[in-house]
Amino acid sequence: MNDPARWHKQRATNHTGCAMTYVVTDNCIACKYTDCVEVCPVDCFYEGENTLVIHPDECIDCGVCEPECPADAIRPDTEPDMDKWVTFNRKYALLWPVITTKRDPMPGYEERDGEAGKLEKYFSEAPGEGG
Ligand code: SF4
Ligand code: F3S
Repeated sequence: MNDPARWHKQRATNHTGCAMTYVVTDNCIACKYTDCVEVCPVDCFYEGENTLVIHPDECIDCGVCEPECPADAIRPDTEPDMDKWVTFNRKYALLWPVITTKRDPMPGYEERDGEAGKLEKYFSEAPGEGG
């Protein structure tokens, strides 16, 4: 976070006028590395059975988690076609427990990292353990 221009951009609002947020996207599903949870200063990651989400209203847009994800699954909502992921993250953040402690990734994570269509193939609405 040494680029002032980038910091300024992150504190701005998105095209809908809402505060910006980062969100977890498709490639977290069935990998769930959890490196992200330990760096979040406001503990706004929530755990499902096989993926995480970020609470968009709790995220302070610091951007620290984005480079920590080995699956490149954390994206700013200013990128194209992120609206559905903001809705997805908000929905499940209200249903799942908070997670702040890193754990082992899912079995088979190496084979599934980068696979297409993970939302349709693997996503579970069940909550994770949290913690
Ligand atoms: Fe947490 Fe910052 Fe990532 Fe938002 S951008 S989820 S506040 S680490
Ligand atoms: Fe998922 Fe990446 Fe975090 S795979 S659990 S968003 S480190």
